[in-house]
Amino acid sequence: MKLIQDVQEMQQTVLGLKRQGKRIAFVPTMGFLHEGHASLLREGRKRGDVLVLSIFVNPTQFGINEDLASYPRNLEGDCALAESCGVDLVFVPTAVGMYPPGFQTTVALGSLTKPLCGASRPGHFNGVAVVVTKLFGIVQPDCALFGNKDFQQLAIIRQMTIDLNLAVEIIGMPIVREPDGLAMSSRNSYLSPEQRQQALCLSKAILKVRELFAGGETSVDRLLGEARMIITAVAGASVDYLELRDSTTLEPAVTATADTLFALAVKIGSTRLIDNTVLGGD
Ligand code: PAJ
Repeated sequence: MKLIQDVQEMQQTVLGLKRQGKRIAFVPTMGFLHEGHASLLREGRKRGDVLVLSIFVNPTQFGINEDLASYPRNLEGDCALAESCGVDLVFVPTAVGMYPPGFQTTVALGSLTKPLCGASRPGHFNGVAVVVTKLFGIVQPDCALFGNKDFQQLAIIRQMTIDLNLAVEIIGMPIVREPDGLAMSSRNSYLSPEQRQQALCLSKAILKVRELFAGGETSVDRLLGEARMIITAVAGASVDYLELRDSTTLEPAVTATADTLFALAVKIGSTRLIDNTVLGGD
């Protein structure tokens, strides 16, 4: 496994591999890797001759009052996990390498960015879209893997890839959870033991909504009402959003169907956690 920091060196390395006919699979991350990231890497290993992992805490996708400075980092641990998943190249660019003086180009996104995390985190998806476009340009992947954990991010990247004719196959992967249901996230490391217990209200709300839907409940108000009760019963938890939306357009759901996305963002203390499910999905 080789670690590359320099943007040009990374691009030249993959160009050389592609000239040899190698298929490149790519997993972009912000590091502090866990089993969710590992599931993407293992699938990527099956899909490419060369598996590339990027680790870059992208400053442009953080708001001014967000956790850029405190975002957890552990390059040594990440490299150990990457190695065990069969990664060939780890790309770890610097912020100035990615955004040198004079950098000024952005990607204009559409309606998919308006609701949910886009409403709570203005500019966030713009930062994501720019960095993903740049990473695609540098790594030139044949396929790239993303988690459903960030459902809206994946939807935006899929649409952007279609709209801009990027020659990358986008592969969505299931959410990996802790044994007790909490969706794995690098940000779970911010939680105290007590908050770690409180954080279970997200996956409990998901289970409840799925259970009610499976039992025939399709009223948006009733489903969201039940979910809200689970969150508000937990001291230290506050709802950022709780929504039922069409899983393709992200437009608000009128009644719940198998294609409806239930998505929520909840603050546990000062840690903002997200989770989601498609009601008719596994
Ligand atoms: P990061 O939060 O590090 O996540 C990297 C990838 O891992 C994303 O595609 C995310 O959806 C996936 N992932 C995270 N937790 C997961 C889980 N529990 N189960 C399955 N997949 C999971 O998302 C980002 O980084 C950044 O926005 C990035 C796309 C790298 C752009 O900077």
